[in-house]
Amino acid sequence: MTNISQKVTYQLRKEISEKINRLPMKYFDSKTHGEVLSVVSNDVDTLSNSLNQSMMQIISSVTLIIGILVMMFSISIPMTLVALLVLPLSALLIGFMVKKSQVYYKSQQEYLGHVNGQVEEVYGGHHVVKVFNGEEKVIEEFQKNNNTLYNSAWKSQFYSSLMFPIMSFVGNIGYVAVVVLGGYLAINNRIKVGSIQSFIQYVRNFNQPIGQLAQITNQIQQAAAASERVFEFLGEEEEVQVVDNPASTEGIQSAVEFKHVKFGYTPDKTIINDFSAKVKPGQKIAIVGPTGAGKTTIVKLLMRFYDVNEGEILVDGHNIKNFDRGELRKMFGMVLQDTWLFHGTIMENIRYGKEEATDAEVIEAAKAAHANHFISTLPDGYQMELNEEANNVSQGQKQLLTIARAILADPKILILDEATSSVDTRTEVRIQKAMDNLMKGRTSFIIAHRLSTIRNADLILVMNDGDIIEQGNHEELIEKGGFYANLYNSQFEKTA
Ligand SMILES: Nc1ncnc2c1ncn2[C@@H]1O[C@H](COP(=O)(O)OP(=O)(O)O)[C@@H](O)[C@H]1O
Ligand SMILES: [Mg+2]
Repeated sequence: MTNISQKVTYQLRKEISEKINRLPMKYFDSKTHGEVLSVVSNDVDTLSNSLNQSMMQIISSVTLIIGILVMMFSISIPMTLVALLVLPLSALLIGFMVKKSQVYYKSQQEYLGHVNGQVEEVYGGHHVVKVFNGEEKVIEEFQKNNNTLYNSAWKSQFYSSLMFPIMSFVGNIGYVAVVVLGGYLAINNRIKVGSIQSFIQYVRNFNQPIGQLAQITNQIQQAAAASERVFEFLGEEEEVQVVDNPASTEGIQSAVEFKHVKFGYTPDKTIINDFSAKVKPGQKIAIVGPTGAGKTTIVKLLMRFYDVNEGEILVDGHNIKNFDRGELRKMFGMVLQDTWLFHGTIMENIRYGKEEATDAEVIEAAKAAHANHFISTLPDGYQMELNEEANNVSQGQKQLLTIARAILADPKILILDEATSSVDTRTEVRIQKAMDNLMKGRTSFIIAHRLSTIRNADLILVMNDGDIIEQGNHEELIEKGGFYANLYNSQFEKTA
C-alpha cells in the first residue's frame, strides 16, 4: 500500500506540474500562488496519507467482517439476523455524520489554501509590509483565515471522532439483543450454551471492524475533500497546445500585422478597442504611451498569452492561432519589466534562453547586453549563485541578465517591454545600439518610456486608452506636433 499510495502521489504531482504549464494565463489572474501551491503540496499530501493509512484498514476490516459473518451464520441464523438488525441504524447514523462533517472538511482544505496564499504573498512582499507598518493588518488578516481554518478543522475532526463511540453504542444494543435471544433459545433447548458463548464472542469481534471502518471515514472524508480540489484543478480548461495542420515557422520573415484587434481581460471591460498596425519584416517598432494605455496587453496578445476577442493577428500572413503554441513562442524573445530569474548561477540563468549554448556563447550574449562588466566584478563571476528572489543583484542588473538571456535565445522577433527601465540612461542607449546590431533583419518591438532611446525606430505607435492615436517615425510625429511631440518635448524640458 505504501508503494501504491506513493506512486499515486507521484503521478498526481507530475500531472499537476504539467497541467500548470498548459493552463491559460487567465487562470492565474484569479488565483494566488499559494493556493495553487496548496493543491500541489497539501491536498496531494492529504490524499496520499489517507490512501496509505486507510486502505490497509479497509482491507483488513472488510476481510474480518466477511469471515466473522460466515462463522455467525454457521452457528445460528436467527441470532445472526438479530445481530444484523442494528446495521441499518448504524448506516443511518454514519450517513448523517458524514454529511455533517464533509462540509467542514471541504472548508478545511479550502482555508488551508487561503492561509498558504496569504503567507506566500506577505512573505514575498515582506519589506513593503515593514515599510508601511502593515504588520498588524497582516496578522489580523492571517488570524481571520487561521480562525476559519481552526473552526472547520476541529469541527470536522469532532464529528468524525464521534463516529466510533456512536458505533460502539449501537453495537452494544445489538449485543444485548443477541444475548436475550440466545437465552430464550437455550431455555427452549434449541441452542447449546457453548454456541451462545462463541456466538457472542463473534458479535464482539464483528462490531470492532465496523467501528474501525466508521473511524477511518474521517480520513476518507478528508481525502475526498482533497481529491475534489486536486481533480478540479486537473479538470480546468486548458489552452490548446497544437493545432491541425499548423503553419510552419520555418523561414518565417516575421512580418506582423494587427487587424482590427479588440480585446478585454474581462467581458465587461474592453481594453483594446480597434488596434490595427502593419509591421514589415526587420522593422523596429516602438510602442509608446502613458501607463495603462495597453502596451503590454498588445505584446501579450502577440505572444498568445491571451486570445483576441475580435480581429486577428497575423505573422507572415498566418493567423497566430494557426501555429502550434510552442512554435509560436519559439519565434519570440521577450524581456519584461518584472524580471524572472531563478535560484541558480548567473551562467544557468542566462543559459535558460538556449539550453545547449556553450559558456563562450553565454558570455558573448552577456557582453551584448552590457552585463559582462558587472558580472566580472562579482565575487564568483558567472558562477555566482542568485538567491531565490534574485535580490542579491540590483534591479537594473537583473534586467541586463534577462536581456542577455533573450539575446542568447536568438529569436526571430524580439520584444522588450520596458526592459531597461531600471538601467541608467547611458547603459540603456548602449544596449539599444547593441540590440540594433543584433536585430538587423529581424522584427523587434520596443516599449520604452525614455523616448530618446527609440528615436530611430522605423515605426512609432503612440497608444492611449487602448487605441493607436498617432503613428509614423520620429520626424513625422514631431512635425505633426501632436501627442507624441508633446510627450517627447516634455521629457527634454525636464532635463533642461
Ligand atoms: N490581467 C489583467 N486583468 C485585467 N485587467 C488587466 C490585466 N492586465 C492589465 N489590465 C488592464 O489593462 C490595461 C492596460 O494594461 P497594460 O497593457 O499593462 O498597460 P501598459 O500600457 O502600461 O503596459 C490597464 O488598465 C490594466 O488595468
Ligand atoms: Mg506595461
